[in-house]
This record gives sequence, C-alpha cells and structure tokens, in this order.
Amino acid sequence: MNEPEDPASPAVDRSGFLADVAARSTHGLRGDYSRMRADYTVEQRYELYTPAHQDVWRRLYARQHELLPGRACEAFASALARLDFADAIPRFDSVNQRLHAATRWRLVPVPGLLPDDVFFGHLAKRQFPVTVWIREPEEFDYIVEPDIFHDFFGHVPMLFDPQIADYLQAYGLGGLKAQRLGGLKYLARLYWYTIEFGLVAEAGGVRAYGAGILSSPGEIRHAVDAPEVHRERFDLIRVMQTKYLIDDFQKVYFVVDSFGQLFDETAPDFSLLYRALERLPELEP
Ligand code: PHE
Ligand code: CO
Repeated sequence: MNEPEDPASPAVDRSGFLADVAARSTHGLRGDYSRMRADYTVEQRYELYTPAHQDVWRRLYARQHELLPGRACEAFASALARLDFADAIPRFDSVNQRLHAATRWRLVPVPGLLPDDVFFGHLAKRQFPVTVWIREPEEFDYIVEPDIFHDFFGHVPMLFDPQIADYLQAYGLGGLKAQRLGGLKYLARLYWYTIEFGLVAEAGGVRAYGAGILSSPGEIRHAVDAPEVHRERFDLIRVMQTKYLIDDFQKVYFVVDSFGQLFDETAPDFSLLYRALERLPELEP
C-alpha cells in the first residue's frame, strides 16, 4: 500500500468523473482528488487533522452515542462499544487489523464520493471506502457530502456483522453487473433503503442499522420514534420501485426481520427483475 503514485489506469477516467460532478452540482466535490491512486485510494495523513477537527469528532461522537440506546440495532451497538473511538478520529490501520480478523473486510481511505464502478469494485473486494476529511466546526449539523464521521461511525461497526459483510460484497458484485444490464437506478435504491436507511425488527420494535440514520441526530429519532413515518416490511421489488429523498428525512423506511433475510432475498439473479421493473410504476416515497 505504499507506492507513492500509481500511474493512472486507463480503466478509470478521473477527469470525466470530476467534470461530471462539477457540471451537475453547485458545489463540486469537497475532497482533494489530486493525490489519489488509480483506484481512488489515498493516504490517511493523520497529521492533517487539527485540534479543532478532533474536537468536532468528539462532539459528534458524544451527541450521537447518547441517542443510540433503544434506537441502534444490537450488532451496531456492540461493535461500536468494542471499537472505542470516542476520543479521537480513528486511524484506519488500527481498525483494519480488527476488522479483517472479524469479517475479512478492510477500510480504504478515499477523498470522497467515487464513480460507481470504482465504488462497486472496492466492495466486491471487501474494501470499504472511507472519506478521509472531517467537516469543519461551522458544518457541525449539516454537510453536503459524507465525511469521515458518517463513513466511520455509521458504516464501520456494521462491517463487523458477518451477514452484512457478505451482503455488501454481493452488492458490489451486483453493482458491476447492474451497470452492464442497465439496472443501476434500481440497485441504488436497494443500497439507499438498506445500507443507508435500513431498519431491522428487534426487541419487539424497530432498530436502525442504516448508516445514514445512525450517523444523524435528527434522522435517528425520526426513523425510529416518529409516529407519522411509514415503516414497511422489506420487499425487494417494492424497494426497487421506490424513489428516495436526498436532502430531507425519509418518509418511508423498510424493515428487515434479520440480516439473513436481506442476504437471502437479494441472492437470486436480478437480470430479469431489472427488465420487469422497467414496466412497473415508480413509487413516491
Ligand atoms: N443477486 C444480485 C444479482 O444477481 C446481486 C446482489 C446481491 C445485489 C446482493 C445486491 C445485493 O444481480
Ligand atoms: Co454512507
């Protein structure tokens, strides 16, 4: 992992991706994409985190940790408790030894959002991309893109769960396949309603396992406690038909009985499903 600079791979069109994002959004991309390797990984340069950044991490962690009891699923809560990263921004290297021993996953540091094929390629190899930068103090409550707090706090504990670990790898392989079959739109909804905003039936109620819920103080209360929210039993086709909201709390969440159910229901070949979905209506959340 220590080569200074891999030559750009022809398979990865960096300038295309960055230009594309710049054209579609008002703010461009937040991270520094100038020092990455062909697979978009970078070094975590720990010395670049300032005391103010460490303080942001500690305050985000404390605020979120307090909201977890009764709202976070057991797998998340127990992995988080063992990880012990309340007091400082975590170092990828130290987490990686434990993560690899638990589920053979590894975290790879990246500058931020990735092109779909690069993202899927990492997941297919059991590598989870984690953004290196952290929000500034002025952005404490709102960030335009996922930062290290979202990626680490929200996603990493769930990677210690064997079934989620296998599901995510299958998702990466499925993503590469969906690109060839024109199914990306549907597969993106599956990621959104499971890995980012999934709920699981637990302890006679629902608990969060989705990172977008677990890393947000507003959404965790909304998703688990709010009476007006729709909480539907997980149904693969229904999930793939349902559009989602990117800059507001979700109006609907899908609840799995177990992570085994999630893995089993998504295991069959999706080729025909993508074709069938073209003829089904899209549902509003
Ligand atoms: N079973 C899916 C396919 O054949 C792959 C997949 C698995 C996608 C798990 C998402 C999650 O395309
Ligand atoms: Co995320």
